Amino acid sequence: MTTQPSTQADLAKASPVFDGRALRDAFGSFATGVTIVTTSGPGGVDIGLTANSFSSVSLDPPMVLWSLARTSLNMDAFRDSGHFAVHILSADQETLSTRFASKGIDRFEGLTLDRGPGNIPMLQDCMARFTCKLAYQYEGGDHVIFVGEIVDFGHSARKPLVFHGGRYGMLLPKQILASVNSPDEFSNLSSDDLLYQVSNAYFRTRQTVVEKLESHRWTAEEYAVLSIIGREDGLCVPQIVARSEQVRGKGISASIVQKLIVRGLLHEADAGDGHVTVRLTPEGRLAVLELIAIRKSSEADVQGSLDPSEVQLLKHLLARLEQSANAVAPT
Ligand SMILES: Cc1cc2nc3c(=O)[nH]c(=O)nc-3n(C[C@H](O)[C@H](O)[C@H](O)COP(=O)(O)O)c2cc1C
Repeated sequence: MTTQPSTQADLAKASPVFDGRALRDAFGSFATGVTIVTTSGPGGVDIGLTANSFSSVSLDPPMVLWSLARTSLNMDAFRDSGHFAVHILSADQETLSTRFASKGIDRFEGLTLDRGPGNIPMLQDCMARFTCKLAYQYEGGDHVIFVGEIVDFGHSARKPLVFHGGRYGMLLPKQILASVNSPDEFSNLSSDDLLYQVSNAYFRTRQTVVEKLESHRWTAEEYAVLSIIGREDGLCVPQIVARSEQVRGKGISASIVQKLIVRGLLHEADAGDGHVTVRLTPEGRLAVLELIAIRKSSEADVQGSLDPSEVQLLKHLLARLEQSANAVAPT
């Protein structure tokens, strides 16, 4: 008769010895989202780290779990604080994930925080946020598993940041793949194809702007709204959403406009014809000026080592490409 190993030491003795790299790679084949888990440490110090070990556990009572490496210097803080918050990151928050996995820096520097129970720091503008009361802790080999009971949560419609095979990614819905004639055709798209090169250049250059915005504590959505209103002050919310769809290929959520109103950057004004329009406040005008400066500096970054004649040629070719795409677009 075999007996169940009961202690950590028994488990270690009973475990087969695997190649660590291979095991890590096998674990990494499971695609996950990315979270930042925060709590408050001794003396009220803000603590947080990137974690992808998060999982939902139970709906009733509502519970989640995540696991922390025993090597973490913050183990005692998570064990003792009594509360933690889990923030699910959106696709444009990769730099935040990298920041919260880096050592020797102030991970919270420059971030605008909310406060939860026990004064725990709560990040803003994530895809979802769960405020938890620590319910259980379990030994899990070289990790400790924390189970929390959710005391509050929020959720917004964004695209998630994905982690797979040690790399960040984004979700590509299967229906987009299905819209391509055949899978073969899709996989034959090579780095020599114009479509591939244009998309690649777009994503890389856009990333430069997104990172610069994030380093100034702006999101791409906030930038979109403020730059639209900066150009055309006095639009109503559905018009702002429609304009953002034209510019970005996807609309922004009306809640972003609401947030900017709460922050005092926009205000609602009666247009006199029964419509309520959104206008910039004096603070909003300053924000638009800051965003213009960020955009100009990103433009310089993107142009990088291209000389002015190459930039002119590229602009001309991109305009031609857009015309030709418009000409073949289904009406
Ligand atoms: C995508 C990603 C997921 C991670 N998941 C975890 C995790 O679930 N648990 C953990 O302890 N560390 C995880 N880490 C590593 C920690 O974020 C990293 O070691 C951090 O420096 C730990 O901070 P601390 O030592 O201040 O606790 C992850 C890192 C990345 C980039």
